[in-house]
Amino acid sequence: MDPATSITRAKATQPTGTCYRVLMWDSCALPAEQLNEWSEQRKELLGRMRDAGIKGARGLLTQLENELKTLTVKLIEEPLALAPRAAFSFARAEALGATLQAHEAVLAYRLGNAAVEVLMQLQGEESVTDMLNHWQAATPGMDWCTAPIVQAMSAAEGTAWQQECSDHAETEVDTPEYTSGEFHHVTVLLNEAVQALQPAEGKVMVDATLGGGGHTERLLLAGAEVWGIDQDPAARAAAGARLAQYGERLHIVAGNFRNAAEILRKRGVQGVDGLLADIGISSPQVDCAERGFSFLHEGPLDMRMNPAAPRSAADIVNTAAESKLADILWQYGEERASRAIARRIVQERAKAPITTTTQLADLIATVLPRKGKQHPATRSFQALRIAVNDELGALEELLHSGLSLLKSGGRFAVITFHSLEDRAVKRYFELVCKPEIDRPEWPAPRPNPAYAARLVYRKPVTPAEEELSANPRSRSAKLRVIEKL
Ligand SMILES: C[S@@+](CC[C@H](N)C(=O)[O-])C[C@H]1O[C@@H](n2cnc3c(N)ncnc32)[C@H](O)[C@@H]1O
Repeated sequence: MDPATSITRAKATQPTGTCYRVLMWDSCALPAEQLNEWSEQRKELLGRMRDAGIKGARGLLTQLENELKTLTVKLIEEPLALAPRAAFSFARAEALGATLQAHEAVLAYRLGNAAVEVLMQLQGEESVTDMLNHWQAATPGMDWCTAPIVQAMSAAEGTAWQQECSDHAETEVDTPEYTSGEFHHVTVLLNEAVQALQPAEGKVMVDATLGGGGHTERLLLAGAEVWGIDQDPAARAAAGARLAQYGERLHIVAGNFRNAAEILRKRGVQGVDGLLADIGISSPQVDCAERGFSFLHEGPLDMRMNPAAPRSAADIVNTAAESKLADILWQYGEERASRAIARRIVQERAKAPITTTTQLADLIATVLPRKGKQHPATRSFQALRIAVNDELGALEELLHSGLSLLKSGGRFAVITFHSLEDRAVKRYFELVCKPEIDRPEWPAPRPNPAYAARLVYRKPVTPAEEELSANPRSRSAKLRVIEKL
């Protein structure tokens, strides 16, 4: 489950001079139209304020300042406070919180569902931009809005704001569950992954993508204790029913694997012997029309692996700015016609919202005529699915926290299904397996501070002919494995 997080903290240090309140938010949290409206009206008011300032019209200036405040609260701050998107997963909120806490200039902060609000007193040469860069570095995969609200405050106003923060409790909100019936998923690279993980009695393993429990079952059969994580309640229910006989050796946990370290730490699990991630979607997710993943079945345009997640594919398709849509199609689907498709979507949604999978697929087919076997909507659907579930962001977070979960000698195995994911895994595994790093400007190579593992296989393991013919969905699978030193 993706926890929606709300954290508020204040420091003991109090403001002594001018301080700044900065509000930053996830760019998907608000509809683009709202942001445009705010920017336009804000620009116009700022122009009038500048003129009033030049003329020395103090009364008018105060009135315009108040108008600007009211506009910002109405168009940005109120909707942001209600934004249902849990952009700050617990792990991200913690990482961002630690960055803010460690920063001397920060006097207080609040993390909402989709926004961060900080009170700071700038020091020396530091600028608001420097601060924003720190926030961004602490939250990889977050798509921050490029227009933060920066408001100067007197020391007294800052103290009052800080006071509000100091009593606030930390809260964590869970999302509801749902379950479904039939679940048939053919496990990919089953023998290869299990062999690489070396399960045995007494070993503790994590299956970060439990799905139907295919890999987990083999780990349990070998005698290991398994923690199985999945964000899809239908998968958890199916795996739970299938593997009930293993009793207390199997622990099924609801959650996003981006929070795997946190999830396990909270349950007292310290070091594990193996960590498996079989990234992507399961066959039941694709095949169930109701889930809205496939252009082959008429269904709601949904695509959420966690059905309680706040943003569906329809939300993105009907509200994202044209340029954002084009970026999603290009970056996550490598769709060359991304701009034309985005333009067509925006034209069409102006008439009526796009709500079903086939509606979107047919629309894409009008832009991109079918060539060969592949449906023209294939790449766009992949791109939207990745965006809806923030798949690359979650994978990055799992990669960066995975090694910390493992004992020395523990193995980390990842199966990917497309080049964007495989590239991220390959790059990260290569980085942590290199004892030294070198740059042209350095006289000699230097020790690599990230060095912590060895590659178990130099090249990715791919399905054998037999598996390929039995299960064509395995054709793009790649398994990469490292072992912690
Ligand atoms: C390919 S299936 C796994 C199949 C499983 N290995 C088996 O053999 O049955 C991927 C599963 O991972 C889950 N999943 C994908 N991304 C996830 C994430 N970020 N956090 C948690 N679960 C995720 C999906 O819901 C899906 O059930």
